[in-house]
Amino acid sequence: MDDRKSIASLDNNRKESFDNSEDVRKLEVNRKFSIVGVVARITPRKDRNDRTFWDLTIMDEKGQIDGKIWANATWWDLTAPQEKKVLDPEKPGFISGLQGQSLGIQGQVAEFRGQSQLNFNALYYLDQSKYPPHGFVQRSPVPIEELEREFWNMVDGCGKDIRVFLRQMFSGQLWEAFRLAPAAVTHHHAYVHGLLEHTLGVTRCARSIADTYAGSGMNVEVDLVVAGSLIHDIGKIEAYSLSPAPEMTLPGIVMDHIALGYAAFSRIAENFGLDNSLKLSLGHILLSHHGCREFGSPVLPATPEALIVAAADELDFKLFCYEDSVSVLDEGKSVSEYNHSTGRRFWKRNSVEGTEA
Ligand SMILES: [Fe+2]
Ligand SMILES: [Fe+2]
Repeated sequence: MDDRKSIASLDNNRKESFDNSEDVRKLEVNRKFSIVGVVARITPRKDRNDRTFWDLTIMDEKGQIDGKIWANATWWDLTAPQEKKVLDPEKPGFISGLQGQSLGIQGQVAEFRGQSQLNFNALYYLDQSKYPPHGFVQRSPVPIEELEREFWNMVDGCGKDIRVFLRQMFSGQLWEAFRLAPAAVTHHHAYVHGLLEHTLGVTRCARSIADTYAGSGMNVEVDLVVAGSLIHDIGKIEAYSLSPAPEMTLPGIVMDHIALGYAAFSRIAENFGLDNSLKLSLGHILLSHHGCREFGSPVLPATPEALIVAAADELDFKLFCYEDSVSVLDEGKSVSEYNHSTGRRFWKRNSVEGTEA
């Protein structure tokens, strides 16, 4: 892409002449790119010579990309393009004020220790009314109507006691917040409606595992598994906010979504007058759903229902990371870059001969 042409088109609000984050993630080393997006995170760091550089995560409708802004990068003010004003990133409050703002970026793919790395070389502060930040927020690839329909089908498939409680729980403001919330800030389903998409993935998987074991004679309560899956991450409503990219809230940082979720669930169950044994069983699933203490669960899953929900939650997260990692593999490559959230590289293996449809 011609850099001058693409940046000139910023004045005319022509987003289509830019790359999107999905294109950029697929670029090979040395390739240049131009992108417009919203600042999801920007963190100052120091290099070996004690010069400040920044880690920047930029988001658009297609996802997020991480890159480095080195000390020699140039910052332009495009709110008055004819003035050609250069901005000083060291000015107090400038960098922290960029959070949630729209930026134009020109950069290049570099290589660092065998991994590709994005360098953001020129940054353009944009007229925020021309490029409203909420226009760059990533959403679930599944239409919201489909997600909502499936959610209520799951609820209505439960027996009366659980169904009535779930209908009461997922109503009013809680439902409005739940259907919008992201499931994470990075790692997985970190976009609008991501929590609903992840919740359904976990519930679908957990229900089929529960059906399998119940069908082979084990004493597993399928409705309890469904209800536990639907509420397991309810605390993420309070732990994350969209401003407009997903961010951790203060309660999210200092209390985490499991504690916040259990507090919300207890409050609602109390007001509803939920049967004590159901309250205990669902509370146990919610508290133990991360499967072990190192990952934030205060108790380990101790019932078949809790074991199933914890297993489905982990699987949904890891499979998301697999899809996300292999979707950006270069032509001819079969092993992904290192995935930090799951601590591995993923392998997109070729179909074994004779097993293809
Ligand atoms: Fe969780
Ligand atoms: Fe989860």
